[in-house]
Amino acid sequence: MKKTSNKIVLVGSGAVGTSFLYSSISQGIAEEYGIIDLNNDISKGNELDLEDSFPSIQNNAIVKSGGYELVSDADIVVITAGRPQKPGETRLEMVSDNAKIMKSIAKEIKSNGFKGVTIIASNPVDVMTTVYQEVTKFDAKKVISSSCSLDTARLRMELSKAFDVSPSEFSAFVLGEHGDSSVSTLEFASIKGIPLSSYYKDKGLTPKKLEELHERVWKKAYEIIDRKRATFYGVGSALADISKSILRDEKRVFATGALLSGEYGQKGVYAGIPSVLGKEGIITTYEFPLSKKEKAQFIKSVSTLKTATKKALDAIK
Ligand code: LAC
Repeated sequence: MKKTSNKIVLVGSGAVGTSFLYSSISQGIAEEYGIIDLNNDISKGNELDLEDSFPSIQNNAIVKSGGYELVSDADIVVITAGRPQKPGETRLEMVSDNAKIMKSIAKEIKSNGFKGVTIIASNPVDVMTTVYQEVTKFDAKKVISSSCSLDTARLRMELSKAFDVSPSEFSAFVLGEHGDSSVSTLEFASIKGIPLSSYYKDKGLTPKKLEELHERVWKKAYEIIDRKRATFYGVGSALADISKSILRDEKRVFATGALLSGEYGQKGVYAGIPSVLGKEGIITTYEFPLSKKEKAQFIKSVSTLKTATKKALDAIK
């Protein structure tokens, strides 16, 4: 019988996972949701809490907590499980701890017959996605890192404040590692094709100011964690938006992470790259134009990811 409803299963119902769930349910992105967590009380508690929102948001989704059997008929699995980042800790410093957790999750999802698209947000996310794809051997097109989708939202917010234009109007990305070595594509950024570089001077955006703008983007998570111990609304909303493009086959472009296969001459690890997302996952990737300096930064970022990925794969041997 043809499947008539979309199902998303969340693995890890902490703040990031439940922010994603609440954002998805509020937007009516799927009809059915599953919640898996090491702590059954937390997943059951979230099931009961979320259902109490249905009457107010006029949404009768199905939400069920349970074990990995929930993934067998899911269209999307979103993984947010892992040790959270401590104040001042870099995402790459969590690689060994979270690689072991990711390996066990990957084995459970594979053994329970999941055939859909996986979206991973567990940090260091690009490395964790490589680990997951290595363990499951799933088609890399159906395994997506949330990567720089959140950073790109942060960049567009900064540009929105600088130009007093809605963030959605900017064509600009953050690429590479979701983390300290990421690259903001400012040289060829535009507002609907209108080159921003023609207006930087008018806006007082000197090269130094642009550097500071990029720094605010990649340091934003640290500032939020210092103030409130964790980030979750930004990444939760990004995960919901990514899921929507996949479930509705919208073919929108995100700076999510794909397994590089020659983009900017780089291969073999997941990194943030402009990706078209539809029902089968990553349809294709595109190389956004970069200055020589930005391309060198991207290559350096990928090299950082390769080093961290080797450490992760060594940790799960
Ligand atoms: C952040 C976390 C999701 O950047 O890595 O907020």
